[in-house]
Order: sequence, then C-alpha cells, then structure tokens
Amino acid sequence: MVRAKIISTGGYLPAKRVTNDDLSKIVDTSDEWIYERTGIRARHMAEGQETTSYMATQAAKQAIERAGLTPNDIDLIIVGTATPDSSFPGVSTQVQGALGMTRGAGFDLQAACSGFVYGLKLADTLIRSGSEKTILVIGAERFTHMVDWTDRSTCVLFGDGAGAVILQASEGDSGILDTAIYSDGSKNDLLYASGGIATTKTVGTVVMHGREVFKHATRAMAQIVDDLLSRNNLARTDVTWLVPHQANKRIIDATAKMLELPADKVVLTVQEHANTSAASIPLALNFAAEKGTFKAGDLLLFEAFGAGFTWGGALVRW
Ligand code: UT7
Repeated sequence: MVRAKIISTGGYLPAKRVTNDDLSKIVDTSDEWIYERTGIRARHMAEGQETTSYMATQAAKQAIERAGLTPNDIDLIIVGTATPDSSFPGVSTQVQGALGMTRGAGFDLQAACSGFVYGLKLADTLIRSGSEKTILVIGAERFTHMVDWTDRSTCVLFGDGAGAVILQASEGDSGILDTAIYSDGSKNDLLYASGGIATTKTVGTVVMHGREVFKHATRAMAQIVDDLLSRNNLARTDVTWLVPHQANKRIIDATAKMLELPADKVVLTVQEHANTSAASIPLALNFAAEKGTFKAGDLLLFEAFGAGFTWGGALVRW
C-alpha cells in the first residue's frame, strides 16, 4: 500500500525574539496576563528582507537537504499562508524560483491557521493516487505584519516563521494514515482580516472575538480526535504524540486531557513561537523531530483550527 511518508522536516525562525515584557512597553499588557491566558512568553519577529517567501525558502532548503534530495526531485510545492509577500505570484512559485527548481509545480493554499493541515490532506491524496511522488508542504507566515500594534487583544498572540515537510510515496506502515478537514463559513465574522484587495485595497489587520474562537476551537479539537481515531479503529490511548496548532496552551491542554496524554507527550512551542498560523504545526514538528523526539512506529496527531472557521487534523505513523 502506498502512503505519503514524512521523510524530512525543516524550519526557519527569525533571529529577532520579542518577549512579553518588550510588548508591555508598546501596549497595556503584562507578561503575567499573556502567559496565564495563552502560555506565550515570546515570539519571533521577521525583519527587513525576512518575507514569507524568504522564510519558506529557508525551511524548504533545510528539509530538502535533510532528505538528501535536490530541488528538482520535488514534483509539487504547496504553501499554506495567509500572509503572502504579494497577492500574486504565490509564495510557492517564489520558493520554486529561489530553489532553482526548473520543473514541477507550485501553488498557495488559503485556509488560515489550518493551511498546513489542508496542504497535508491534498499532498496525501495526490501521492496515494499516484499523481505525484514527492511533495514539499510548507506553512509560512509573517503575521506580525497583519496585526494592529495598538490592539492588545491580538498583537500579543502572533509570531513569524516557516516550517516545511517533504512527503514521499512509500510502501510500508509508516506515513500519513488519515487526514480530516472541515470548515464552517457561518463563522467568518469571528476571526478575519479587516481588509482585502477586493474590498479596501489594503490587507487589513487581524480582528478576533477571542472568547468565541476559543470555545469553537476546543470543540473542533474534540471532533478531530473523535473522527480520526474512530474511523481508523484506534483508541485515544494509541496516540503517542500530540502536535497541535500553537495558539493557546489552554486549548492544547484540554485536547491532551481528552487524549489522556501526559504533558511530556505534547509538542509545545507556543511559549517561544506564539501563534504562527499555518507555520505553527510544521515548526513544532520540526522542533521536536530535530531533537529526535519521535521513534519509529509512534502515532502522531496533528490538529489545527483557524479563521473561516477552518479546522482539521492528520494521523501520522512515524
Ligand atoms: O489561531 C487561530 C485560533 N485562535 C485561537 O484559538 C485563539 C482563541 N482565543 C484565545 O486564545 C483567548 O480567547 C485569548 C487569549 C485571545 C483571550 O483570552 P480570554 O481569556 O478569552 O480573554 P478575553 O478576551 O475574554 O479578555 C479578558 C480581559 C478583558 O478585559 P475585561 O473586559 O475583562 O476588563 C480584555 O480587555 O483581558 C483584557 N485583555 C488584556 N489584558 C492584558 C485582552 N488582551 C489583553 C492583554 N493584556 N494583551
């Protein structure tokens, strides 16, 4: 049976690290409030030429090198992002150009914070169908350019970065077992950007009704757990590692509790990365993989939730 196997990961975080105390000099907030409500201590902030495509390219280069491939071994690049360098061309083709890739294809995918998981779903399906053999899936965001730096309820929550995985067709038991994606368009107004090319002609800034989003996100995580595990005849206790979207430690804790997973089986990066939207899961995955956290045969559960609302997950046998 052909599966899409994660053969390598890569990541990029800007060098500039901004702490909660740094932010308390800009807006009326405190380290105590931010940490207690979200688990965030710091975030990385892109500077100058560290655009979304630049960060995505760096993460991609690392993943390609670790896989022992060359850029032209890749058939397709999918980039999940809500903060592209420009409206077009897509970040994916900018990465393709920067990598010197002369074949294959690339496109961007907009599913807000769920962009990486949506990308995995697509890549998995294309690989299983035999259409593509090797796919680079990237989540990359420069969200600090999307926040209103006078709005303390949102600006403290986000960070920048990029994470990448290479998926390759492989026979065997390891790889993506299943993916699930969902959306609910009736909740567009709870988390959105206040602008857009077809409306204000500007990109706008993040508007979030935090409490409502929190409620829906927690419910959505439960649905992902139930759906993915039940249709694969797996028990909650079969999950070895939770690799969640890093928006809020309280949401992550609730999901871990549901899975009866101890804290040391949850990949947690929100304290250092904050919410990097579509980049958050691949960055967390790369962070853990670099440390040799996962062992062959481990069952990983990815979960994401974002604007739309969009949400989704993936079950991966390492
Ligand atoms: O990635 C996409 C998915 N996003 C999420 O999953 C985020 C989900 N939501 C959350 O994580 C939380 O709702 C937040 C962290 C955004 C907010 O936490 P909360 O416990 O829901 O706080 P709140 O919005 O209900 O605000 C509580 C109080 C308010 O003051 P009053 O009205 O009670 O006097 C806010 O004005 O906290 C105040 N507040 C702040 N205080 C200090 C809001 N932001 C701040 C701040 N510093 N940065």
